[in-house]
Amino acid sequence: MKVLILGSGGREHTLAWKIAQSNKLTKLYAAPGNAGTADIAQNINISVTDFPKLAQFILNEGIEMLIVGPEAPLVEGVADYFANDKSLSHVKVIGPKKAGALLEGSKDYSKKFMVRHNIPAGASKTFTLETIESGYVFLEMQKPPYVLKADGLAAGKGVLIIDSLEEAKKSLKEMLSGQFGEASKSVLVEQFLDGIELSVFVITDGKNYITLPEAKDYKRIGEGDTGLNTGGMGAISPVPFADKAFMEEIDKTIVKPTIDGLAKDGIDYVGFIFFGLIKVDGKPYVIEYNARMGDPETEVVIPRVKSDLLEILDLAGQRKLDQASIEFEEGYATTVMCVSGGYPEAYQNGKEITELDKLKDVTAFHAGTTFSELGEVVTNGGRVIALTGKGPDMKSALAKSFKAAETVKFDKKYFRSDIGFDL
Ligand code: GLY
Repeated sequence: MKVLILGSGGREHTLAWKIAQSNKLTKLYAAPGNAGTADIAQNINISVTDFPKLAQFILNEGIEMLIVGPEAPLVEGVADYFANDKSLSHVKVIGPKKAGALLEGSKDYSKKFMVRHNIPAGASKTFTLETIESGYVFLEMQKPPYVLKADGLAAGKGVLIIDSLEEAKKSLKEMLSGQFGEASKSVLVEQFLDGIELSVFVITDGKNYITLPEAKDYKRIGEGDTGLNTGGMGAISPVPFADKAFMEEIDKTIVKPTIDGLAKDGIDYVGFIFFGLIKVDGKPYVIEYNARMGDPETEVVIPRVKSDLLEILDLAGQRKLDQASIEFEEGYATTVMCVSGGYPEAYQNGKEITELDKLKDVTAFHAGTTFSELGEVVTNGGRVIALTGKGPDMKSALAKSFKAAETVKFDKKYFRSDIGFDL
Protein backbone atom coordinates (compact mmCIF):
# COMPACT_ATOMS: atom_id res chain seq x y z
CA MET A 1 0.00 0.00 0.00
CA LYS A 2 1.23 3.50 -0.85
CA VAL A 3 0.73 6.02 1.94
CA LEU A 4 1.06 9.80 2.15
CA ILE A 5 1.52 11.50 5.52
CA LEU A 6 0.48 15.13 5.69
CA GLY A 7 2.53 17.46 7.90
CA SER A 8 6.09 18.30 8.82
CA GLY A 9 6.51 17.96 12.58
CA GLY A 10 7.70 15.45 15.14
CA ARG A 11 4.28 13.81 15.13
CA GLU A 12 4.48 13.18 11.39
CA HIS A 13 8.08 11.89 11.54
CA THR A 14 7.02 9.47 14.29
CA LEU A 15 4.00 8.24 12.31
CA ALA A 16 6.23 7.85 9.24
CA TRP A 17 8.84 5.93 11.29
CA LYS A 18 6.16 3.50 12.49
CA ILE A 19 4.37 3.10 9.15
CA ALA A 20 7.75 2.49 7.45
CA GLN A 21 8.08 -0.68 9.57
CA SER A 22 4.88 -2.20 8.14
CA ASN A 23 5.00 -5.14 5.70
CA LYS A 24 1.89 -3.72 4.07
CA LEU A 25 3.75 -0.58 2.96
CA THR A 26 5.09 -0.34 -0.60
CA LYS A 27 5.97 3.36 -0.67
CA LEU A 28 5.78 6.21 1.79
CA TYR A 29 5.45 9.93 1.02
CA ALA A 30 5.42 12.97 3.30
CA ALA A 31 4.01 16.37 2.35
CA PRO A 32 5.91 18.51 3.03
CA GLY A 33 7.86 16.37 5.56
CA ASN A 34 11.19 17.35 7.11
CA ALA A 35 14.84 16.25 7.14
CA GLY A 36 13.86 13.26 9.30
CA THR A 37 11.07 11.96 7.08
CA ALA A 38 13.43 12.33 4.09
CA ASP A 39 15.33 9.26 5.38
CA ILE A 40 12.30 6.97 5.20
CA ALA A 41 9.85 8.64 2.82
CA GLN A 42 9.78 10.73 -0.31
CA ASN A 43 9.19 14.33 0.71
CA ILE A 44 6.80 16.22 -1.55
CA ASN A 45 6.78 19.99 -1.57
CA ILE A 46 3.01 20.50 -1.37
CA SER A 47 1.29 22.58 1.30
CA VAL A 48 -0.96 20.69 3.73
CA THR A 49 -3.94 22.81 2.69
CA ASP A 50 -3.43 22.71 -1.10
CA PHE A 51 -6.07 20.01 -1.62
CA PRO A 52 -6.20 20.12 -5.46
CA LYS A 53 -2.42 19.62 -5.71
CA LEU A 54 -2.46 16.87 -3.10
CA ALA A 55 -5.31 15.12 -4.90
CA GLN A 56 -3.50 15.28 -8.24
CA PHE A 57 -0.32 13.85 -6.72
CA ILE A 58 -2.24 11.08 -4.95
CA LEU A 59 -3.98 10.08 -8.19
CA ASN A 60 -0.77 10.18 -10.24
CA GLU A 61 1.12 8.00 -7.74
CA GLY A 62 -1.71 5.56 -6.95
CA ILE A 63 -1.63 6.41 -3.23
CA GLU A 64 -4.30 4.58 -1.24
CA MET A 65 -4.08 6.19 2.19
CA LEU A 66 -3.72 9.78 3.37
CA ILE A 67 -2.82 10.19 7.04
CA VAL A 68 -3.50 13.74 8.19
CA GLY A 69 -1.16 14.94 10.95
CA PRO A 70 -2.10 18.54 11.86
CA GLU A 71 -5.49 20.12 12.52
CA ALA A 72 -5.50 22.88 9.87
CA PRO A 73 -6.24 20.67 6.83
CA LEU A 74 -8.89 18.78 8.84
CA VAL A 75 -10.69 21.94 9.89
CA GLU A 76 -10.42 23.21 6.30
CA GLY A 77 -12.08 20.01 5.05
CA VAL A 78 -9.44 17.76 3.48
CA ALA A 79 -11.50 14.63 4.29
CA ASP A 80 -14.66 16.20 2.78
CA TYR A 81 -12.69 17.16 -0.35
CA PHE A 82 -11.66 13.54 -0.92
CA ALA A 83 -15.06 12.05 0.01
CA ASN A 84 -16.97 14.43 -2.28
CA ASP A 85 -14.95 13.65 -5.43
CA LYS A 86 -15.74 10.26 -7.03
CA SER A 87 -12.23 9.92 -8.46
CA LEU A 88 -10.75 10.33 -4.94
CA SER A 89 -13.30 8.62 -2.71
CA HIS A 90 -11.37 5.31 -2.81
CA VAL A 91 -8.49 6.99 -0.88
CA LYS A 92 -8.66 6.13 2.82
CA VAL A 93 -8.33 9.42 4.64
CA ILE A 94 -7.24 9.01 8.26
CA GLY A 95 -8.68 12.17 9.74
CA PRO A 96 -12.26 13.34 10.27
CA LYS A 97 -14.39 15.46 7.98
CA LYS A 98 -15.09 19.10 8.92
CA ALA A 99 -18.04 18.17 11.14
CA GLY A 100 -15.79 15.94 13.27
CA ALA A 101 -12.82 18.33 13.20
CA LEU A 102 -15.10 20.98 14.73
CA LEU A 103 -14.61 19.14 18.02
CA GLU A 104 -11.19 20.83 17.91
CA GLY A 105 -12.00 23.79 15.65
CA SER A 106 -14.75 25.25 17.86
CA LYS A 107 -14.53 25.08 21.65
CA ASP A 108 -18.17 26.22 21.85
CA TYR A 109 -19.28 23.37 19.58
CA SER A 110 -17.24 20.82 21.51
CA LYS A 111 -18.59 22.05 24.85
CA LYS A 112 -22.16 21.72 23.56
CA PHE A 113 -21.28 18.20 22.35
CA MET A 114 -20.03 17.29 25.84
CA VAL A 115 -23.13 18.70 27.52
CA ARG A 116 -25.42 16.92 25.02
CA HIS A 117 -23.73 13.58 25.65
CA ASN A 118 -23.26 13.96 29.38
CA ILE A 119 -19.47 13.96 29.24
CA PRO A 120 -17.79 15.45 32.34
CA ALA A 121 -16.21 18.87 31.71
CA GLY A 122 -15.98 22.29 33.35
CA ALA A 123 -19.16 24.38 33.05
CA SER A 124 -18.93 27.28 30.62
CA LYS A 125 -20.84 30.01 28.79
CA THR A 126 -19.96 31.58 25.45
CA PHE A 127 -20.02 35.32 24.74
CA THR A 128 -19.60 37.64 21.75
CA LEU A 129 -19.08 41.41 21.55
CA GLU A 130 -22.89 41.79 21.43
CA THR A 131 -23.32 39.90 24.71
CA ILE A 132 -20.22 41.23 26.51
CA GLU A 133 -22.25 42.86 29.32
CA SER A 134 -23.70 39.44 30.26
CA GLY A 135 -20.12 38.13 30.04
CA TYR A 136 -19.05 40.63 32.72
CA VAL A 137 -21.99 39.63 34.93
CA PHE A 138 -21.15 35.94 34.41
CA LEU A 139 -17.50 36.59 35.35
CA GLU A 140 -18.66 38.33 38.55
CA MET A 141 -20.54 35.15 39.47
CA GLN A 142 -17.40 32.95 39.09
CA LYS A 143 -14.64 32.24 41.55
CA PRO A 144 -11.04 33.07 40.55
CA PRO A 145 -8.97 32.10 38.66
CA TYR A 146 -10.99 32.99 35.55
CA VAL A 147 -10.58 30.89 32.41
CA LEU A 148 -11.13 32.57 29.02
CA LYS A 149 -10.99 30.36 25.95
CA ALA A 150 -11.09 31.53 22.33
CA ASP A 151 -13.71 29.55 20.43
CA GLY A 152 -11.57 28.94 17.34
CA LEU A 153 -8.04 27.72 16.56
CA ALA A 154 -5.45 30.11 18.00
CA ALA A 155 -2.23 28.10 17.60
CA GLY A 156 -2.36 26.89 21.21
CA LYS A 157 -2.44 30.46 22.58
CA GLY A 158 -6.17 31.00 22.95
CA VAL A 159 -6.59 30.07 26.63
CA LEU A 160 -5.99 32.66 29.36
CA ILE A 161 -6.09 31.89 33.08
CA ILE A 162 -6.40 35.12 35.07
CA ASP A 163 -6.45 35.79 38.83
CA SER A 164 -8.10 39.21 39.01
CA LEU A 165 -11.70 39.92 38.03
CA GLU A 166 -10.82 43.32 36.55
CA GLU A 167 -8.06 41.78 34.42
CA ALA A 168 -10.44 39.02 33.31
CA LYS A 169 -13.04 41.59 32.17
CA LYS A 170 -10.34 43.55 30.32
CA SER A 171 -9.07 40.39 28.61
CA LEU A 172 -12.58 39.33 27.66
CA LYS A 173 -13.02 42.65 25.87
CA GLU A 174 -9.60 42.39 24.17
CA MET A 175 -10.25 38.84 23.01
CA LEU A 176 -13.71 39.69 21.67
CA SER A 177 -12.24 42.72 19.93
CA GLY A 178 -9.98 40.47 17.87
CA GLN A 179 -6.88 39.69 20.00
CA PHE A 180 -6.74 36.28 18.33
CA GLY A 181 -8.42 37.35 15.09
CA GLU A 182 -11.50 35.39 14.04
CA ALA A 183 -10.67 32.70 16.64
CA SER A 184 -11.69 34.94 19.55
CA LYS A 185 -14.82 36.54 18.06
CA SER A 186 -16.57 34.15 20.46
CA VAL A 187 -15.04 33.44 23.87
CA LEU A 188 -15.92 30.83 26.47
CA VAL A 189 -15.79 31.75 30.13
CA GLU A 190 -15.09 28.43 31.75
CA GLN A 191 -15.02 26.95 35.23
CA PHE A 192 -11.42 26.51 36.42
CA LEU A 193 -10.55 22.88 37.10
CA ASP A 194 -7.69 22.32 39.51
CA GLY A 195 -5.93 19.02 38.99
CA ILE A 196 -3.29 17.16 36.99
CA GLU A 197 -3.50 16.80 33.22
CA LEU A 198 -3.02 13.82 30.93
CA SER A 199 -3.71 12.99 27.31
CA VAL A 200 -5.60 9.95 26.03
CA PHE A 201 -5.75 8.94 22.36
CA VAL A 202 -7.98 6.67 20.34
CA ILE A 203 -8.17 5.53 16.74
CA THR A 204 -11.79 5.27 15.64
CA ASP A 205 -13.83 4.36 12.60
CA GLY A 206 -16.79 6.28 14.00
CA LYS A 207 -18.28 3.23 15.71
CA ASN A 208 -15.43 1.14 17.07
CA TYR A 209 -12.28 2.43 18.73
CA ILE A 210 -8.88 1.35 19.94
CA THR A 211 -7.29 3.18 22.84
CA LEU A 212 -3.59 3.97 22.51
CA PRO A 213 -1.22 4.39 25.47
CA GLU A 214 -1.88 7.54 27.49
CA ALA A 215 0.74 10.28 27.90
CA LYS A 216 1.54 13.46 29.78
CA ASP A 217 3.09 16.44 28.04
CA TYR A 218 4.88 19.53 29.35
CA LYS A 219 3.59 22.68 27.67
CA ARG A 220 5.42 25.54 29.42
CA ILE A 221 8.80 26.76 28.19
CA GLY A 222 10.35 27.04 31.65
CA GLU A 223 11.45 24.48 34.23
CA GLY A 224 8.88 23.73 36.90
CA ASP A 225 6.08 24.46 34.40
CA THR A 226 6.69 28.20 34.26
CA GLY A 227 6.68 30.80 31.48
CA LEU A 228 4.91 30.87 28.16
CA ASN A 229 2.94 28.02 26.65
CA THR A 230 4.58 26.10 23.81
CA GLY A 231 3.43 23.30 21.55
CA GLY A 232 5.05 20.89 24.02
CA MET A 233 8.55 20.52 25.48
CA GLY A 234 8.51 16.83 26.30
CA ALA A 235 6.25 13.90 27.12
CA ILE A 236 6.04 10.67 29.08
CA SER A 237 4.09 7.46 28.60
CA PRO A 238 2.60 5.69 30.52
CA VAL A 239 1.30 8.16 33.10
CA PRO A 240 1.96 6.75 36.59
CA PHE A 241 -1.20 8.20 38.18
CA ALA A 242 -3.42 6.77 35.43
CA ASP A 243 -3.92 3.31 36.92
CA LYS A 244 -6.23 0.65 35.54
CA ALA A 245 -9.28 1.83 37.49
CA PHE A 246 -8.78 5.45 36.39
CA MET A 247 -8.33 4.43 32.74
CA GLU A 248 -11.52 2.36 32.99
CA GLU A 249 -13.34 5.38 34.40
CA ILE A 250 -12.07 7.46 31.45
CA ASP A 251 -13.29 4.82 29.05
CA LYS A 252 -16.73 4.57 30.67
CA THR A 253 -17.46 8.25 31.27
CA ILE A 254 -15.56 9.94 28.43
CA VAL A 255 -14.25 7.82 25.55
CA LYS A 256 -17.26 5.58 24.93
CA PRO A 257 -19.82 8.39 25.34
CA THR A 258 -17.78 10.46 22.86
CA ILE A 259 -17.73 7.75 20.19
CA ASP A 260 -21.41 6.95 20.78
CA GLY A 261 -22.14 10.71 20.67
CA LEU A 262 -20.47 11.03 17.28
CA ALA A 263 -22.59 8.17 15.94
CA LYS A 264 -25.80 9.62 17.48
CA ASP A 265 -25.03 13.02 15.96
CA GLY A 266 -24.48 11.39 12.55
CA ILE A 267 -20.82 12.46 12.42
CA ASP A 268 -18.80 10.11 10.25
CA TYR A 269 -15.39 10.07 11.98
CA VAL A 270 -12.35 8.08 10.87
CA GLY A 271 -9.10 9.03 12.54
CA PHE A 272 -7.52 9.93 15.83
CA ILE A 273 -9.20 11.63 18.78
CA PHE A 274 -6.99 13.25 21.39
CA PHE A 275 -8.71 13.75 24.73
CA GLY A 276 -7.04 16.49 26.78
CA LEU A 277 -8.08 15.47 30.30
CA ILE A 278 -7.64 16.57 33.86
CA LYS A 279 -7.88 14.50 37.03
CA VAL A 280 -9.74 16.40 39.76
CA ASP A 281 -10.42 14.70 43.11
CA GLY A 282 -9.80 11.32 41.47
CA LYS A 283 -12.26 11.91 38.59
CA PRO A 284 -11.48 12.60 34.92
CA TYR A 285 -12.86 15.68 33.10
CA VAL A 286 -12.39 16.79 29.49
CA ILE A 287 -10.50 20.04 28.97
CA GLU A 288 -10.54 19.78 25.20
CA TYR A 289 -10.80 17.47 22.23
CA ASN A 290 -8.35 17.47 19.35
CA ALA A 291 -9.07 15.79 16.03
CA ARG A 292 -5.50 14.54 15.65
CA MET A 293 -2.63 13.05 17.60
CA GLY A 294 -0.74 15.22 20.08
CA ASP A 295 2.76 16.50 19.55
CA PRO A 296 5.09 15.59 21.31
CA GLU A 297 2.81 12.91 22.82
CA THR A 298 2.97 10.93 19.55
CA GLU A 299 6.73 10.65 20.04
CA VAL A 300 6.14 8.53 23.18
CA VAL A 301 2.80 6.88 22.41
CA ILE A 302 3.58 5.41 18.98
CA PRO A 303 7.00 3.94 19.94
CA ARG A 304 5.14 1.89 22.59
CA VAL A 305 2.84 0.31 19.99
CA LYS A 306 4.10 -3.17 19.07
CA SER A 307 1.43 -3.92 16.46
CA ASP A 308 1.41 -2.92 12.80
CA LEU A 309 -0.10 0.59 12.84
CA LEU A 310 -0.74 0.60 9.09
CA GLU A 311 -2.82 -2.56 9.40
CA ILE A 312 -4.90 -0.91 12.13
CA LEU A 313 -5.37 2.32 10.16
CA ASP A 314 -6.30 0.31 7.08
CA LEU A 315 -9.06 -1.43 9.07
CA ALA A 316 -10.20 1.94 10.42
CA GLY A 317 -10.41 3.25 6.85
CA GLN A 318 -12.61 0.24 5.94
CA ARG A 319 -14.84 0.87 9.01
CA LYS A 320 -13.75 -2.55 10.31
CA LEU A 321 -11.84 -1.52 13.37
CA ASP A 322 -13.68 -4.18 15.39
CA GLN A 323 -11.38 -6.67 13.61
CA ALA A 324 -8.21 -4.96 14.81
CA SER A 325 -6.14 -5.74 17.88
CA ILE A 326 -3.26 -3.83 19.39
CA GLU A 327 -0.35 -4.67 21.67
CA PHE A 328 1.83 -2.27 23.62
CA GLU A 329 5.34 -2.45 25.01
CA GLU A 330 5.72 -2.54 28.78
CA GLY A 331 8.04 0.03 30.32
CA TYR A 332 8.34 3.75 29.67
CA ALA A 333 8.96 5.99 26.69
CA THR A 334 10.03 9.59 27.29
CA THR A 335 10.82 12.41 24.93
CA VAL A 336 12.69 15.68 25.40
CA MET A 337 12.22 18.41 22.82
CA CYS A 338 15.19 20.57 21.79
CA VAL A 339 13.93 23.97 20.69
CA SER A 340 15.34 27.10 19.04
CA GLY A 341 16.53 29.79 21.47
CA GLY A 342 13.79 32.42 21.82
CA TYR A 343 10.90 30.01 21.16
CA PRO A 344 7.91 30.35 21.68
CA GLU A 345 8.64 33.98 20.80
CA ALA A 346 10.91 35.08 17.94
CA TYR A 347 13.75 32.73 16.96
CA GLN A 348 16.01 32.14 13.97
CA ASN A 349 15.93 29.25 11.53
CA GLY A 350 18.78 27.81 9.50
CA LYS A 351 21.12 26.76 12.34
CA GLU A 352 23.14 23.68 11.44
CA ILE A 353 22.30 20.62 13.58
CA THR A 354 25.29 18.39 14.31
CA GLU A 355 26.19 15.30 16.35
CA LEU A 356 23.05 13.48 15.22
CA ASP A 357 25.30 10.52 14.32
CA LYS A 358 26.56 10.40 17.94
CA LEU A 359 23.11 9.67 19.39
CA LYS A 360 22.84 6.35 21.16
CA ASP A 361 19.89 4.51 22.71
CA VAL A 362 17.29 7.01 21.49
CA THR A 363 15.17 7.61 18.43
CA ALA A 364 15.48 11.16 17.14
CA PHE A 365 12.21 12.45 15.74
CA HIS A 366 12.70 15.59 13.68
CA ALA A 367 10.17 18.36 14.38
CA GLY A 368 11.44 21.55 12.74
CA THR A 369 14.28 20.58 10.42
CA THR A 370 15.12 20.90 6.75
CA PHE A 371 18.16 20.78 4.47
CA SER A 372 20.29 23.80 3.64
CA GLU A 373 21.42 24.42 0.06
CA LEU A 374 24.63 22.60 0.99
CA GLY A 375 22.66 19.58 2.17
CA GLU A 376 23.25 20.18 5.90
CA VAL A 377 20.44 19.41 8.33
CA VAL A 378 19.35 22.78 9.72
CA THR A 379 16.70 24.11 12.11
CA ASN A 380 13.38 25.09 10.57
CA GLY A 381 11.00 25.82 13.42
CA GLY A 382 10.67 26.52 17.13
CA ARG A 383 10.53 22.89 18.12
CA VAL A 384 13.49 21.25 16.38
CA ILE A 385 14.02 17.65 17.44
CA ALA A 386 12.44 15.25 19.94
CA LEU A 387 14.66 12.61 21.54
CA THR A 388 12.76 9.53 22.62
CA GLY A 389 14.27 7.09 25.08
CA LYS A 390 12.83 3.88 26.46
CA GLY A 391 13.46 1.99 29.65
CA PRO A 392 11.86 -0.29 32.21
CA ASP A 393 11.12 2.79 34.33
CA MET A 394 10.67 6.52 33.79
CA LYS A 395 14.09 7.41 35.21
CA SER A 396 16.09 5.18 32.89
CA ALA A 397 14.11 6.31 29.83
CA LEU A 398 14.55 9.98 30.79
CA ALA A 399 18.30 9.53 31.34
CA LYS A 400 18.61 8.50 27.68
CA SER A 401 16.47 11.41 26.44
CA PHE A 402 18.41 13.99 28.49
CA LYS A 403 21.80 12.60 27.43
CA ALA A 404 20.76 12.81 23.79
CA ALA A 405 19.42 16.35 24.27
CA GLU A 406 22.89 17.34 25.60
CA THR A 407 24.61 15.59 22.68
CA VAL A 408 22.72 17.18 19.78
CA LYS A 409 24.25 20.53 18.90
CA PHE A 410 22.86 23.66 17.27
CA ASP A 411 23.31 27.35 18.03
CA LYS A 412 21.01 28.57 20.86
CA LYS A 413 19.60 25.10 21.55
CA TYR A 414 17.38 24.91 24.62
CA PHE A 415 15.56 22.04 26.32
CA ARG A 416 13.84 21.49 29.63
CA SER A 417 15.90 19.28 31.91
CA ASP A 418 13.00 18.62 34.30
CA ILE A 419 10.54 16.68 32.12
CA GLY A 420 8.69 14.29 34.45
CA PHE A 421 9.51 16.40 37.54
CA ASP A 422 5.95 16.24 38.87
CA LEU A 423 5.43 12.50 38.50
N1 GLY B 1 0.90 18.64 22.95
C1 GLY B 1 -0.34 19.25 22.80
C2 GLY B 1 -0.92 19.25 21.46
O1 GLY B 1 -0.49 18.53 20.58
O2 GLY B 1 -1.87 19.97 21.22
